[in-house]
Amino acid sequence: MALLEITDMSVAYGRIEALHGVSLTVEQGELVTLIGANGAGKTTTMRAVSGLRAPSRGSIVFDGKDITRMKPHLRVLEGIIQAPEGRGVFPGMTVTENLEMGCYARTFESKAQHDETLDHVFELFPRLAERRDQVGGTMSGGEQQMLAIGRALMARPRLLLLDEPSMGLAPMIIAQIFRIVSEINAQGTTVLLVEQNAQQALSRSHRAYVLETGNVVRSGPGRELLADPAVKDAYLGVA
Ligand SMILES: Nc1ncnc2c1ncn2[C@@H]1O[C@H](COP(=O)(O)OP(=O)(O)O)[C@@H](O)[C@H]1O
Ligand SMILES: [Mg+2]
Repeated sequence: MALLEITDMSVAYGRIEALHGVSLTVEQGELVTLIGANGAGKTTTMRAVSGLRAPSRGSIVFDGKDITRMKPHLRVLEGIIQAPEGRGVFPGMTVTENLEMGCYARTFESKAQHDETLDHVFELFPRLAERRDQVGGTMSGGEQQMLAIGRALMARPRLLLLDEPSMGLAPMIIAQIFRIVSEINAQGTTVLLVEQNAQQALSRSHRAYVLETGNVVRSGPGRELLADPAVKDAYLGVA
């Protein structure tokens, strides 16, 4: 049984349907990527998974439980955690305080568990450890993205949702973010990633789905899609 199973899901904004019967699965331990052009419905899919947008049709099952109508905060308790969109760092709070906000919605069972998780985040992001007392608003774009991901990790996700974590960052920082996402996944966290940076995302994903105007038009192992001429043509900027 898949950890996440979306079946025949449609999502609308008012009378405009943005997703038309999307089906996709994420297995326990996988890194799965959604790629697609602007407006294809990637963010809408993520919103439906986190509960911010209700499907008009279809179902979402998480770990065997139907969560299609479950409230967002209850999904967080189940371990479905989205790194804040547009980074969403609290500018006046320090790095550590920002990270602490991540466990607010899903509290720790013990102080030891909290300390262990915080240490783990600082190990993954030495940059954040160095700057733990710096306020978020003075960090670079890349550092803020790391902070946003670190904050999501503080909630100990069973499914981590990342919507375009590389957006607007310099190539070197993008490579770093991708390495860290791979590492988070390799350490056991299941990840659903949305990316326009198809080359890097596909080469690091177990599987991927291509969304076009609200439909899944292709899916398969990341490396297979990377070699697919139609995908190359449309998303990799090479014919
Ligand atoms: N809040 C909204 N209200 C109305 N239409 C929206 C809203 N958000 C997204 N859409 C529309 O839904 C479609 C999918 O958008 P989105 O999921 O944001 O795509 P992507 O993340 O792939 O760029 C687009 O046509 C977009 O204009
Ligand atoms: Mg989007």
